[in-house]
This record gives sequence, C-alpha cells and structure tokens, in this order.
Amino acid sequence: MSDRELPSIDELDVAGKRVLVRCDLNVPLDDGAITDDLRIRAALPTLEALLERGARLAVCSHLGRPKGQVKDEFRLTPVAERLSELLDRKVTAVRDVVGDEAREACASDDEVVLLENLRFEPGEEANDPGFTDALSSLADVYVNDAFGASHRAHASIVGPPERLPSAAGRLLVNEVTTLERLLVKPDHPYVAVLGGVKVSDKLDVIGNLLDRVDTLCIGGAMAFTLLVAQGKDVGRSLVEEDRVEDVKGMLEEAVAKGIDIHLPTDVVAAEEPTEDAIHETVPLAQIGNRMGVDIGPETTGDFAKTILGARTVLWNGPMGIFEIPDYSAGTKGVASAIAEATAEGAFTVAGGGDSAAALARFEMTDAVSHLSTGGGASLELLEGKQLPGITALRQASK
Ligand code: 3PG
Ligand code: MG
Repeated sequence: MSDRELPSIDELDVAGKRVLVRCDLNVPLDDGAITDDLRIRAALPTLEALLERGARLAVCSHLGRPKGQVKDEFRLTPVAERLSELLDRKVTAVRDVVGDEAREACASDDEVVLLENLRFEPGEEANDPGFTDALSSLADVYVNDAFGASHRAHASIVGPPERLPSAAGRLLVNEVTTLERLLVKPDHPYVAVLGGVKVSDKLDVIGNLLDRVDTLCIGGAMAFTLLVAQGKDVGRSLVEEDRVEDVKGMLEEAVAKGIDIHLPTDVVAAEEPTEDAIHETVPLAQIGNRMGVDIGPETTGDFAKTILGARTVLWNGPMGIFEIPDYSAGTKGVASAIAEATAEGAFTVAGGGDSAAALARFEMTDAVSHLSTGGGASLELLEGKQLPGITALRQASK
C-alpha cells in the first residue's frame, strides 16, 4: 500500500464546483457540548484548500450511532457552530441529508453547506445505491477526508468515487502516510506501548507488529490477560479468559522472534474500579483479592526508560483508568516519556480514541509527532488491512 496511489485534491478541478467532502466530524459530546474538537480542527486544511481554489463545499459526516433514525441529540448543530468559528465563515447547516433543504442549499451560492448526520439515513450504513445516487447528485466532485470512518464500507465512503471525480483530502493522505511509517522501514529501536481494556481488540495489531517492533510495553487491563497466560495471579483484575490460549501463542511467537515484552511488575490495587475505592500501590504479587486499575511507578519507570531509548514509538491505549486522577499516573508517565522522546527526535504516534482523550486531558496533544484522528481505522490500518474508503479511491483513480 502506498500513498502515492492516492489521488490528490491538487489534481482535481474544483473552481466553481460544488465539492462533496466526507469528513469524520464524529466528536465527543457532553450534554450537547463538544468536549474535544480535534477532528473538526483536523478537517480544516482540506476545507480551506478547496475554498481557496474557488470551490463551494457540501460537507458531510456521521455523528454517533443513531441507526438510520432522526434523533435530535445526534444533530450536527454543535459541529456546525464550531466549524463556522474555526473556518471564520458562515456555515449553512441543513436539517436533512439528501432532501429538499440539502438540494436547495447545494444548488445555491452558499460556500459551506453542512449536511445533516449521514446516519439519519438508513441507506448510509447499508451502502444503498439509491442513497449514494442522491448524495452524489448534490455535488460535482467528491473528496474523502474522513480517515476515522474509512474502515466502514458505508455509502458516503465507498459510493461517490464510483460516480464523481474523486480524491483523498489532506488529512486522509497525512494519516495514511504517517501510519505507514510504523509498518514500512521504521527506525529502530521501535517500541509499541499498548493498553486499554481488551486484548482481543489488539491481538491482530500485535500480530502484525511482531515482525516490526523490538519491544512491546503492555499496560492497561489488557496486560492482565497476558499475565494470566504467564501463570501469574492478578486477583480480581479484568481478564479475558477465552483469550488466554491465543495470548499464550502470541507470547511464544514474540519470544521466538526475540521481542522484549515488558509487563506490569507493580500496580495500583483497588477494591473496586471506582474513584472512592480503597487503593494502594503494591508489587503485582501482592494484589490479593483486588483489581489492578493502573500500572505502578516501577512499571511506569521501566516503560519510560524503554520509550526514551526508542527511535520509533507507537502508543495505543491508556495504562489504567486515567479518567480517575488517582489512577492516571501510569498513563501520564507514559505520555510524558513519549513527549520527551519526541522532543529528542524520535518519531512518535498516538492512535486510538482513548490515547487521544488522555493526551487532551493532560494538555499534551502537541507532544507527539502524530496524533491519529482514527480509532478503529488506525487499528485496522496497523493490522495491515485495506480500508474500504482507501480502496474505493484507488480503484476510482485507475
Ligand atoms: C469513530 O469514532 O470510531 C469513527 O468516527 C467511526 O465511528 P463508528 O465506530 O461508529 O463507525
Ligand atoms: Mg469506533
């Protein structure tokens, strides 16, 4: 896979045209307020480049999972407001996706039209050709800049390239090019720091990384399944019992390939995974009948030392329940070490929604070489899979 094959917006004729731009503006909301606008800011370079060249835009995105129904809490209204502020332009937010309002706005001179949540239409997730026709007929040209949704074979992602002159936006190209550096000829030493709740979500990524990395540092609840596979006692920590055998196989493969695997040697042990639970930091062997909710300082120090010796670092997933301050030190320690490694010239990438949320919480989003806007999409890319949205663009450009 190579970014060179991705058709660029620079080669598209857009002046005076209406350009359908598929973005991933699926931002986290709390009671209608955007809590992290990273994805909206990341969409700006493409939108601004197209506007500068005289295009009129029909921006579209999904938000949440309304499952083919119109639900007011999933309207793009807050996104439209934020986009208008960031672009410093009027954004015409229409109340439907391909209905009368959308068609009228797209036929008008309005420079930036934002269609309503694509997933209000059942045809979006079903990849229905009738819906794709209606969506494509709103515009003359199509740009996919929705990296975070390009692993979905949904209508707005895979349909328009068959119908309109099409290209990949700046964000999509940047994500693919950057994440590819983690798979193709990475600089060594190369360390992957993985965390999060479920090892089952990460086994395919680990499988694809075993031929590439020198060291794996694994924290978060997923580490407990690995520790169980090594015969350790993890108390009442979360364990995916049905994955222990798979994990044993993975560990054997890693050993055979000479990969260093670092796992927690100390943990924050809590009675419950809650803020007010009684907790203390102990060596893993003293976890007793408690749950591990963060890696301890000895483990954090070990991971940090490994990170500081690396030339390439991939970080996906928190080391503990970082949303609770008492259980956030491990994740923060890892983030700080990655920031320091970046400052010293290492190539560092954070991917996945939770790592992004952790960096945002610690006000460290600029501390990595690249912060991916994709969760599932970045994982699938790192698994070595072809993303449907990227395949659709490549086929259309042939
Ligand atoms: C995401 O946040 O993972 C992307 O926007 C895709 O959303 P989805 O997982 O609901 O398809
Ligand atoms: Mg997702």
